[in-house]
Amino acid sequence: MEQPFVVGKPVTGKYFIDREKELKRLSAILSGTSKGDINNVILLGLRRTGKSSILLNIKDKFSKNKKIIPVIFDAYGISTKERFSRSFINKVLDSYVEETGNKAYKEKIKKLLSQKYDKIKNKLSNFDIVVSEFVTFHTKFRETIANEDELLEDALQYPEKLGNNKKITFVIMIDEFQELLKWGDEFLKMFRRLVQSQSHIAYVLSGSAPTVMKEMVYDSKSPFYKQLIEVHVTPLTEESVYSFIKNRLKTVKISIDNTSLQRIFELSRDFPDYVQRLGLQIYLNCFEKNKKSVKNDDVEKAYSEMIIQLDPDFNNIFKTFSDLEKEILIALSNNIESPSAIASEIRKPQSSLPKTLTRLINQDIVEKYREGKYRMMDAIFSDWLGRRFTNITT
Ligand SMILES: Nc1ncnc2c1ncn2[C@@H]1O[C@H](COP(=O)(O)OP(=O)(O)OP(=O)(O)O)[C@@H](O)[C@H]1O
Ligand SMILES: [Mg+2]
Repeated sequence: MEQPFVVGKPVTGKYFIDREKELKRLSAILSGTSKGDINNVILLGLRRTGKSSILLNIKDKFSKNKKIIPVIFDAYGISTKERFSRSFINKVLDSYVEETGNKAYKEKIKKLLSQKYDKIKNKLSNFDIVVSEFVTFHTKFRETIANEDELLEDALQYPEKLGNNKKITFVIMIDEFQELLKWGDEFLKMFRRLVQSQSHIAYVLSGSAPTVMKEMVYDSKSPFYKQLIEVHVTPLTEESVYSFIKNRLKTVKISIDNTSLQRIFELSRDFPDYVQRLGLQIYLNCFEKNKKSVKNDDVEKAYSEMIIQLDPDFNNIFKTFSDLEKEILIALSNNIESPSAIASEIRKPQSSLPKTLTRLINQDIVEKYREGKYRMMDAIFSDWLGRRFTNITT
C-alpha cells in the first residue's frame, strides 16, 4: 500500500501542495534564461518550510525544456573548496547526461581518466568539450597541479563552457548556500565575478538561514548587493492543508472531521514538514488500531508523539546554543516574552540580554513579533522545549 504522507525528504507530485505563487514567480524569472535573459534568484525560507521541494519541482518543470538543463547542487556539509569543486562538476555532468540521455560521455571519461595524464594530454582537445574539460579538471585535481581557488573557478565555469558550445543554458540551483559563506568575502567576490561574466547560467541560491542570506542582498558591502531577485517561501494556505490531509487519508480509507483538520493546521503552524509528520503519525495510529475515522483526540495524541519523535533532532539543535542562549530559549518557550521578564526569570541583569537576543534573531531562531515581545520562530521547537523544561510557576 502506498504511504499517504512523506517525511524526511523533499517531495513532488501528489505529495506536494500549494506553492503556486513561488513556482510561478520562479518559472517567470528563470524561463528567460534560454533567450539569454539571465536573472539570478535568492530563495529564502526557514528550516523545514519546503525550499528543497520547490527546487525539485522547478527541476521537473525545466526537465521538459530541451534548451535548459536544470541542476540541483546541495551544499550541505561541503567541507573544502576542493570538495565543492569536485562534487559540483560531477553534478553538472550527471545532470547534463541525464537530461540529454547521452551516456557515452561517461564511458569515454572513465576510459580517459584510467590513463596517465602524459599519455592523453595532447589528445584531449580532439574530444567533445563535455569530455575534455571534465578530464582536464580531474587531472589537475588528481595531480595537484591547481590550487583550490583555481579548481573552484574551473568547476563553476564548466557549465558555462558547455552552454556556449552546445547552445544550451543551465539553471543551477545551489541548495543550503549559506554553508559556503564560511569561505568569506573573497569567495563571494570571485563567485560574483563569474556570475556576471556568464551568459549561459542562471543561479538560484537557496538557504535556510534567511537573515544571513538576506545580508548578501541588503548589505551594501556585500558583493551581491542588489544583485539577486528574492523569492520567499510563504506559509501554506489553510485550504491546501485541509484538502491535502483529507485526500491523503482518503487514499487509505480514513475519514476526518473539520474540527480535527483545523486542529492539524493550528498545531503544524503551516510548516509543511509538520503537516506531513502529523498526518503520518495520525495514519499510523489509525492503522494500528484499525480505526477508520479521525477525531480531535487522535490529533492531540499524534501531535504529542510527533514531538517525542523529534527529540533527537531538537536535542541536536538545542545543544549548539550557549548556556545563556539556552536559558533565554527556555524562558521564551514558557511564554515569557519580554526582556525584563526573561531577565528576572533567568536571574541575570537585563543588560546582558540584547546582544544574545540579537544573535538568536540573526540566526532565525527568535523573532520580535511585537514591540518588546519575542518568541521562537519554530513553534513546534518551542513546544518541545516548553514540555521538556516546564515551569510550573508560569
Ligand atoms: N509543498 C509541499 N507540500 C507538502 N509537503 C511539503 C511541501 N514542501 C515540503 N513538504 C514537507 O516538508 C518536508 C521538508 O521539506 P523540504 O526538505 O523541501 O524543506 P526545506 O526547507 O528544504 O528544509 P531544510 O531547511 O531542512 O533543508 C518534506 O519532507 C515534506 O514532508
Ligand atoms: Mg532543504
